[in-house]
Amino acid sequence: MRRRADRGAALADPRERARAAIREASVTTTDNTLFPVPADFAKSALINDDTYQKWYDRSITDPEGFWGEHAKRIDWIRPFTKVKDVSFTGDVHIKWFEDGTLNVAANCLDRHLDERGDQTAIIWEGDSPDESEHITYRDLHERVCRLANAMEGLGIKKGDRVTIYLPMIPEAAVAMLACARIGAIHSIVFGGFSPDSLAGRIQDCDSNVLITADEGLRGGRKVPLKVNADKALETSWSVKHVIVVKRTGGDIHMVSGRDYWYHDLVAKASPEHKPAEQNAEDPLFILYTSGSTGKPKGVLHTTGGYLVYAAMTHQYVFDYHEGDVYWCTADVGWVTGHSYIVYGPLANGATTLMFEGIPNYPDSSRFWQVVDKHKVNIFYTAPTAIRALMREGEGPVKKTSRQSLRLLGSVGEPINPEAWLWYHSVVGDGRCPIVDTWWQTETGGILISPLPGATALKPGSATKPFFGVKPMIVDAAGGELTGATEGNLCITDAWPGMMRTVYGDHERFVQTYFSTYRGYYFTGDGCRRDEDGYYWITGRVDDVINVSGHRMGTAEVESALVAHPKVAEAAVVGYPHDIKGQGIYAYVTLVNGVHPSEDLRKELVGWVRKEIGPIASPDLIQWAPGLPKTRSGKIMRRILRKIAANEYDALGDISTLADPTVVEDLVDNRMNRV
Ligand code: WT7
Repeated sequence: MRRRADRGAALADPRERARAAIREASVTTTDNTLFPVPADFAKSALINDDTYQKWYDRSITDPEGFWGEHAKRIDWIRPFTKVKDVSFTGDVHIKWFEDGTLNVAANCLDRHLDERGDQTAIIWEGDSPDESEHITYRDLHERVCRLANAMEGLGIKKGDRVTIYLPMIPEAAVAMLACARIGAIHSIVFGGFSPDSLAGRIQDCDSNVLITADEGLRGGRKVPLKVNADKALETSWSVKHVIVVKRTGGDIHMVSGRDYWYHDLVAKASPEHKPAEQNAEDPLFILYTSGSTGKPKGVLHTTGGYLVYAAMTHQYVFDYHEGDVYWCTADVGWVTGHSYIVYGPLANGATTLMFEGIPNYPDSSRFWQVVDKHKVNIFYTAPTAIRALMREGEGPVKKTSRQSLRLLGSVGEPINPEAWLWYHSVVGDGRCPIVDTWWQTETGGILISPLPGATALKPGSATKPFFGVKPMIVDAAGGELTGATEGNLCITDAWPGMMRTVYGDHERFVQTYFSTYRGYYFTGDGCRRDEDGYYWITGRVDDVINVSGHRMGTAEVESALVAHPKVAEAAVVGYPHDIKGQGIYAYVTLVNGVHPSEDLRKELVGWVRKEIGPIASPDLIQWAPGLPKTRSGKIMRRILRKIAANEYDALGDISTLADPTVVEDLVDNRMNRV
């Protein structure tokens, strides 16, 4: 009796409850503990359970009515009369609000000036804890107008592609908004990418402008952005103008007639600018992302639908209230930074925090120190960061207050229940709901996620679809699976924020997303639906690896490896990694006469870093005298994935291999050497 009573009392404390769940979760991999919406959270939440059901039902039965109404949350110059024109088959096309006109920058800035001109739009926190800045809506508006004028002064016009290769400094947001203001299409390339990767992305969209900085600063280390840019431009003839932000004052080379200092241009430019009237379906940005084959695809997002969707999901998923300080730790080089640092929050008149640094600099308490310093209410990060910080123990978290936090978010990869429970109990002191948001570069915004005032949480589940999203789980043959089940995840109908095409290659768009399961958008993810209708994303089912929440195509890493003169052949797969979620595992066959060595291993890792960028570095390289191939020469990755994961007993049927003994060699090598 006593024991039971004690246990009950202890479990009434949410932190104790979470700790108990952690103990259980370390034995099971999925967790069905239900975390109900905290009563005080429900009271003030924008969407409760009842509203969610009502709105969701309407969004499915009457999408035109639903979206037509919610699209009014943004300002239109000319109102649309048509809501939706979509086909996922035949001539695949996706159009939303197609006869409406608007300007994204005006929605993110000008329309807020009367009411909140003096409110902080961006809190910038530098790499060093001594550096931060508050930028009001009025100030941001002026900076954007100046750059927009400066760009027009250089002859940059509507439809031009502008590549942005910047660190996490306010100028990155200013550059995005200035492009949107004049109708130019931005393509941001993450600052961690190599000169070659940058060049490939510049060339693919034939960009004529590059905006970069002298150097970036991360964790106290300098990133040679301008040097990289100069290298990329040696092979990229389309770029006529380079605008350079001075960040560190490092010694760089400026090419006369091509390179301009950002501060010189904006100082001379007028602080007033009339935003361009854009059509709802005019392109807003291109963002390159990896797929299972070929080079990265230029995912194209357009203006009206994207903004409606980014703003609406930002408001409801994060339960954003007037005055809240919101922080998403992503980099603007990824889609998360586009939709949930810049466009969604600013369209909503929010205060958004932009962080230049990394979680463990100067020490692993940094995130929480920033939370306390700026009184952050909503905090959105990736599971890989949580797992890395979890390894440092509770100390660095507990020495901070975090009292301002109300809501936590997760994105980028499946969050394991252990990490979820640690995030909930240690970071959030058991008080803050966690929104585990599933989406993709292609989807433009969040598709499956709890709404924190409506959805009881299960650690590790992205839970329920957002308004207007119809998930469908299919088997390998494309048959719909109903009820509690597991299979591949498709979405059956369009939502306003989805990508419209692959830039310059509509056929690839149709092939990649609409041909595996005809008539449905195929996500590339596996998914389980449980008996409560909750969705659990199980990870990619194609040849895409998710490393620390970043997408990497196995084919890209393979082609970097085989470009090395000593490599004859390479096959790359993902394998489970404690911190990164997935690591990069490369099987390498050397050319005849070259002998494996530790030095060569290091050389190859360095080579891939140089070719693609640090995020593509192989974690493990196994020397492979041969690779398992079918008689027709196709590499059987299924087998390589199993060996990399140390699962030797489930190799499946290897009888179709041209030479089954190859597998034995690989298994021996894996067990003995790696
Ligand atoms: C892939 C998309 C979404 C912006 C950042 C990544 C995986 C993303 C989750 C989540 C499980 C997730 C999927 C998806 N993913 N969020 N909450 N739970 N998996 O965008 O680089 O386009 O990658 O990330 O596998 O397909 P991305």
